[in-house]
Amino acid sequence: MKAKLRVQRHQKISEIDERLYGSFIEHLGRAVYNGIYEPTHETADAEGFRNDVKQLVKELNVPLVRYPGGNFVSGYKWEDSVGPKENRPRKVDLAWRTIETNQVGVHEFAKWAKEVDTEVNMAVNLGTRGIQEAMELLEYCNFEGGTYWSDLRKEHGTEKPFGFKTWCLGNEMDGPWQIGHKTAEEYGRLAAETAKAMKLVDDSIELVVCGSSSSKMPTFGDWERVVLEHTYEYVDYLSLHCYYGNPENDLGNYLAQSLDMDQFIKTVVSICDYVKVKKGSDKQINLSFDEWNVWYHSNEQDAAMEPWQIAPPLLEDIYNFEDALLIGCLLITLLKNSDRVKIACLAQLVNVIAPIMTENDGETWKQTIFYPFMHVSNHGRGVVLTPSVESDSYSVEGFKHVPYLETIATYNEENNELVIFAVNRSQEETLEFVFEQEGFEFESIIEETAMEGFDVKATNAAGAEVVKPSIVQKATIADNQLTTSLSPLSWNVIRIKVK
Ligand code: AHR
Repeated sequence: MKAKLRVQRHQKISEIDERLYGSFIEHLGRAVYNGIYEPTHETADAEGFRNDVKQLVKELNVPLVRYPGGNFVSGYKWEDSVGPKENRPRKVDLAWRTIETNQVGVHEFAKWAKEVDTEVNMAVNLGTRGIQEAMELLEYCNFEGGTYWSDLRKEHGTEKPFGFKTWCLGNEMDGPWQIGHKTAEEYGRLAAETAKAMKLVDDSIELVVCGSSSSKMPTFGDWERVVLEHTYEYVDYLSLHCYYGNPENDLGNYLAQSLDMDQFIKTVVSICDYVKVKKGSDKQINLSFDEWNVWYHSNEQDAAMEPWQIAPPLLEDIYNFEDALLIGCLLITLLKNSDRVKIACLAQLVNVIAPIMTENDGETWKQTIFYPFMHVSNHGRGVVLTPSVESDSYSVEGFKHVPYLETIATYNEENNELVIFAVNRSQEETLEFVFEQEGFEFESIIEETAMEGFDVKATNAAGAEVVKPSIVQKATIADNQLTTSLSPLSWNVIRIKVK
């Protein structure tokens, strides 16, 4: 089967905001405790953070990490997490029905973030708390000094402000499971007043207001409209969350789910722009897709979990090869929408629905989904070129035209690199792929990488990282055009040096 991608140097979707490759660490399961933090581990640093985990986070090249939740944030009392560790209280975490020891808090996390070279996307609790606590946390974190809260930060050992730039106004407030769940009216008013007050404390911050926790919520659409009608002037981004799964074991349908993500994004963009028109505003609200991933493998195991444990193995999905293919399609979809999606967080980063896994007192290992994320985060920099794609398609329930080829190209002017990311969704046929372009002069192929040929249900494990990419040499360049073959069910990255 033949397929083609065509781009032109001067036709761009957008500059890529590097926060598109963000991730997420929640106080949940073994993400923090026995994930990034394990003071007794042989690789632990002076703060108790595992150096082997830090190394893998750096490999992923994650520029932003959302923290400390998630559902957890809706019961979070940030003051419990600062000051001398021996005085910090143990509390119940009602979101996940576990025990929170508070041994990792704002200071420790900020320090860890610096070490792995990432920014913190801090969230405030708008479930059980409100404007006052959000203002105080921001003053504690970002105010220079000379006030009660900023001086308390200094007393706790951090002289300079943390300077957190991006803040979330609560989490999934539309969800009945959320502690302090609200109607769109209730949340919209609270979010607007909290945003207003926070920007009085620090007008350099950017704020993310909660959209729906999925496009399947009964309030989806109206929620976005009402919340934005209240908050439009005060916020910068609207959030989207989405998790996919293949419980019916229907591969064609599963790999089409990135079309659902695309539709979700476009619908939310329309609602933002509708409110813009209604308000006669010239401000544009962009999107923060601050939770996205595959999440379904661990559901049964989690349902049987005993409550009130410290760091139980919750949400520990073990990902297979088909999950890596879908993650590749989802990453391409985010890039295709990078004119409006400026922030995105793969949920999550370590142990909890994560690309990086740890054994308590043992090894780290990479899940299958580690690789497509690492490829796009490291090489998908610069600008996204507008794609013109020719590909046969198939149909599944919900989508009439699912192209066999999912693809995008990025161009990084800094290092003269053109990069093609491509998934072949066909289960049987190789795609004879042609890349046509205008405006570039090819110099050489830097590297061609593929994840291909694995059983779709194949997984990795500690000491057995079987599902991983390999270098291939199939591409040829002639007449400034590149041709290669994309194996059935494959994830492909082709990096080209241009003059
Ligand atoms: O990422 C896991 C959970 O999924 C988050 O805590 C919550 O926001 C979402 O429902």
